[in-house]
Amino acid sequence: MIQLIRGFKDILPGEVELWQKIERIARELFEDFGFNEIRIPIMERTELFKRSIGEDTDIVEKEMYTFPDRKGELVTLRPEATASICRAYIQHKLYSPDPAQKFYMIGPMFRRERPQKGRYRQFYQIDAEIFGVQSGLVDVQLIFLLVTLCKRLDLKDVGAHINSLGCPACRPQFKAALTDFLVSVGDKLCPDCVRRRDRNPLRVLDCKVPSCREAITGAPSLLDHLCDGCRSDFDLVMESLTKLDVPFVIDKQLVRGLDYYTRTAFEIQTTSLGAQSAVAGGGRYDNLVKELGGPDIPATGFAIGFDRLAELVALNAPQPVQQPDLFVAALGAKSQTLAFEWICKLGLDGIRVETDLADKSLKSQMKRANRLGAPYVLILGENELEAGEAVLRNMRTKDQTSMSLENIVDDIKFQIKGTKSQLG
Ligand code: HAM
Repeated sequence: MIQLIRGFKDILPGEVELWQKIERIARELFEDFGFNEIRIPIMERTELFKRSIGEDTDIVEKEMYTFPDRKGELVTLRPEATASICRAYIQHKLYSPDPAQKFYMIGPMFRRERPQKGRYRQFYQIDAEIFGVQSGLVDVQLIFLLVTLCKRLDLKDVGAHINSLGCPACRPQFKAALTDFLVSVGDKLCPDCVRRRDRNPLRVLDCKVPSCREAITGAPSLLDHLCDGCRSDFDLVMESLTKLDVPFVIDKQLVRGLDYYTRTAFEIQTTSLGAQSAVAGGGRYDNLVKELGGPDIPATGFAIGFDRLAELVALNAPQPVQQPDLFVAALGAKSQTLAFEWICKLGLDGIRVETDLADKSLKSQMKRANRLGAPYVLILGENELEAGEAVLRNMRTKDQTSMSLENIVDDIKFQIKGTKSQLG
């Protein structure tokens, strides 16, 4: 038997309903906050991700699905959405006439990481980006949105972590201090980090290797090296989060795994998913649009790990299985043909009907109706057919009523819609 590719997964019925619910709530929230949906391709030129995510990151160094297409051009399955959304923003001049734009997208991403719970090679993100606003207040808006989404999904064990990653004005000074520190811990770093120390020392702070994590515990913090502009921006972010009653922790270790960030970076973290603590991550990236060949336009955004979010919601509240509104137990070929017609008509009216076209006994059909949790069963046997009626059984009260076949589709609609509206 051919099996799934390692790290890929199916989202099966029973689980997919929860994904639909999360997606519905997220879309509603984005639309209320004025975001427009954008759909971007699953594959891009490799160059786009190298230039935006950064050559020294784990993603670009080790995790991308990159291959030459038939003409030899290097293409990559997208490991994230920000680079593509920036490309689209520049390519279609979406900044003209108004650079201030808000986008969201939902879809699969690909990273060849070591698979484990909460970490997949194909995973999904819910991504949001805001272009054209320099103020840290929009970073606050993004964190507020994330926290609101978690509240609407009844999540308790989640918290916002924030840090500032500075800007090209203050970073060189910090990099020099960090490099000095990294030289002082010398042989405790993994070979990748020894290389990164000279090329891109900030990446060492994001290394997952335990010996590196230990070596960097006393590393200098960017927060102690911010320039005046970055300092006041970060103060504004903290003040505004406090005013909005959004709890947060300042996390000096938070550097994010992508190179494009400037100023505020944030994550929503949980302790309920083992090693994979980041449910969402994001931050400001004021130079990326320009670096990719566009105008000098600031931007900020986040991505939620959809798989992790769904796992977290499922931990808190097992999802009810969808039940049919009606089960039709039809006995004999004539009854089945008739019932089939009704089912099609009822479906058009949003009434969910299950039936059994395998001509099983009444007993076995009633058993199945019970298992599916149908509140009503309509029984149509040969005797009923001859008498021009069917029997509607209320599975909870066990009451049975005869219904004339003449207007049966409308009568059932009336009965079931009445029950549905009573149930609210
Ligand atoms: P990221 O932190 O690389 O950021 O990914 C965002 C989220 O995607 C993570 O917090 C995690 O929940 C989920 N995620 C990442 N890798 C995996 C995986 N292998 N399996 C399951 N879930 C995963 C970004 O991608 C940035 N583009 C976010 C952003 C948008 N920054 C600004 N705008």
